[in-house]
Amino acid sequence: MCGIIGYVGPRNATAVILNGLRRLEYRGYDSAGIAILGDNSIRVTRAVGKLSNLESRLRQAEDGPPPSVGIGHTRWATHGGVTEHNAHPHLNDAGTIAVIQNGIIENFIELKGELQAEGIRFRSETDTEVIPHLVDLYMKAGMPFARAAFAAIARLQGSNAVVMMSAQEPDKLIAARLGNAGGIVIGLNPDETFVASDVPGILDYTRDVIFLEDGEVAIAQAGQVSVYRLDGAPVNKQRHAIAWDPVSAEKGEYRHFMQKEIFEQARAVTDTLRGRVNFETGEVALESLELGTGGAEGIPARIHTVACGTSKHAGLIGKFLIERIARVPVEVDYGSEYRYRDPIIEPGLAVLGITQSGETADTLAAMSLGKARGARVWAIVNAIGSQAERMAEGVIHMRAGPEIGVCSTKTFLTSIVDQYLLACALAQRANAQTVERSNADPFSLARDLAHLPGLIGQTLKPDPIYEALANRFHDRRHFLFLGRGINYPIALEGALKLKEISYIHAEGYPAGEMKHGPIALIDETMPVVCVAVRDGVYEKMISQIEQVKARGGIVIAIATEGDDFIRQKADYVINVPAAPELLTPVLTAIPMQRLAYEMATRLGCDVDQPRNLAKSVTVE
Ligand code: M6R
Repeated sequence: MCGIIGYVGPRNATAVILNGLRRLEYRGYDSAGIAILGDNSIRVTRAVGKLSNLESRLRQAEDGPPPSVGIGHTRWATHGGVTEHNAHPHLNDAGTIAVIQNGIIENFIELKGELQAEGIRFRSETDTEVIPHLVDLYMKAGMPFARAAFAAIARLQGSNAVVMMSAQEPDKLIAARLGNAGGIVIGLNPDETFVASDVPGILDYTRDVIFLEDGEVAIAQAGQVSVYRLDGAPVNKQRHAIAWDPVSAEKGEYRHFMQKEIFEQARAVTDTLRGRVNFETGEVALESLELGTGGAEGIPARIHTVACGTSKHAGLIGKFLIERIARVPVEVDYGSEYRYRDPIIEPGLAVLGITQSGETADTLAAMSLGKARGARVWAIVNAIGSQAERMAEGVIHMRAGPEIGVCSTKTFLTSIVDQYLLACALAQRANAQTVERSNADPFSLARDLAHLPGLIGQTLKPDPIYEALANRFHDRRHFLFLGRGINYPIALEGALKLKEISYIHAEGYPAGEMKHGPIALIDETMPVVCVAVRDGVYEKMISQIEQVKARGGIVIAIATEGDDFIRQKADYVINVPAAPELLTPVLTAIPMQRLAYEMATRLGCDVDQPRNLAKSVTVE
C-alpha cells in the first residue's frame, strides 16, 4: 500500500514529508523516496528498505536552506523489482518534473512504446515513469505545467493517485485521483498545504481537509487549493473537519468502517497484486505467493478448501477458478463440517484454509486435521501473525489491510484475487512441466488482472439506485438471491451480507435450483436479486428472471453495462462494467455489499457491529 505525502509552505518540507511517511509506514512498503525543490532544481533521494535508509541518505546529502516544496513516497512494487531505480519519485530526462503514483497504469505499455518512439530512454521498469515524460513532452510543445499535467493525466487508464511537481513552477503541487485505487486528501492551514494518500499522514499538522473524488485534479499552493475536473471545469469542494479521536480520524470521510472498506477495495486489490504478476509477460511466480517450499514442490493432485462464512463463499469461487484455469480438482467445505466427515486425505492433497482473521476456530481445526493426516497445508490469510499463518506451511496474504467492520467486504475480494493468482500460477507451472491441463491461457488471464482495480473503481461510482432500492424495499422481511456458474456463490454472499447487517431474512440459491423449491416463495412482495451478467450462463439467467416475473416477483438484476435487453425483463437494473468472465464475481460482489449497506443504514442498524456477531469467531 504505497504512501504519498506532499508539502508546500514555510516549514522544512523534508521533515514534514518524512514524518508523514512514518505515519503511513504501518501500511507496508519496500522502498521510499523524496523529491525536494532547491535552487530551482529538483533533488531526488531514494533508498530500498526502511525509511531509516532514506533518512541516512538524506543526512549525507544535506546542504542549502531547508526546502519549502516536496513530495515523498513509500513504494510497494507493482511493476518492476524492488530496486532504487524503481523507487519513486520518477523524473523526466532533464530532471525538472518529479512524479509519484499509487495504482496501476493499465495502458503503460502503449504509452511507453509511444514515448520510446520519441527517443525517450526509460531509467526504471515502472509504469509511473511514463508520467513525467508525458508531462515533459507537453511542456516542450508549449503548455504550461498545469495544462501539461492535466493532458498527461487524461492519457492514463486505470485507477491511480498521482502527485507531481515542476522546477519551472516551483510554487505548486498537482495531485489527481483517477478511480478508487488510491485516495488523495489535501490538508490546509492558512499558509501551508499538505497532500497525502491517507489522512493519518497529515494529522500532526491539520484537521481541515478536502478529499478528491474520481476524476478530480487539485492545484495546491501554500495555504490554498483549486480543484478541477479533468476537462478543466472548476469544482467547489466541501471542507471536512477531521475529528480528534483516533477512531473517527481513521474513518476519514466515511460514516462507517464498512463503507470505507467497501470504497477502498480497488486499492486493496491493487495491493493484493503487487509484485505478484509481471503485467508484460503475464507470469505469476508461485514463489511470489509466499507458498514456501509447499508451493515450490509442485502442483497438488487435489485441493480441499476449508473456510467459514464469507471466506467459504470466496472458496466456492476459487473452486471454479482453480478447476477452470489449472484443472486441479477442488472440494470446498465448511470448516465446521470438514473434520466431522472423515475426509479422504491422500498423498498429493493440499488443504487450503481461507480466513480473514486467521483465528476462526472451525477453520483452524479443519486445517489442523489436514496437517495431522499428512496433507500439505496452505492458508489465504489477512491478519499477519495469526494462528492460521503460523500453522500453514505456505501462506498467501490477502493484503487487504485491517478490516474493522464485522461484515467482510474487502477481504472477500482480495481472497478471490489470491485464488485467481494461485490458479494462474499452478497452470503456468503445469505448462512449464508440459502437462497440458487447460485450454485457458494462464498468462493472458493473469494480464487481465491489470484492469481489475480500474473495473472495481467503475463499480464503486456513485449510483442513486442503492438509495432508491433501500427506500422501496427496507420494510420487506424476505429477499431471494439467485446466481449461476461462477456467480452462484455471489448469490450466497449477497444473502449473507443482507441478513447479517440489516437482519432481513435472505436466501441465496443457484438459479437452476429455484424450480426445485424456492419458487414457491415468490409472489408480488418478494424482491429477487439476480446476478445476470453477460457470461456463459446469461441466457439461462434470463429464463430464470422470466420465471420469477411470471409469478409476480420483483426482479433486481445485476447486469453488464450496456445490456439494454435485460431492462425489458427486470424491474431494476444495477450495472457493473463488462469484464472477462472469470473476473466478474469480483465486480458483482460489490453491488451486494452496497445494497446491504444502504438497506441496513436506512433501517438504522449498527453496520460495523451487527448484533450477536464477532469479527473473529474463536470458539467452535
Ligand atoms: O476470519 P474468517 O474469514 O475466518 O471469518 C469467517 C466468518 O466468520 C466471516 O466471514 C463471517 O461470515 C463474516 N461476518 C461475514 O461478513
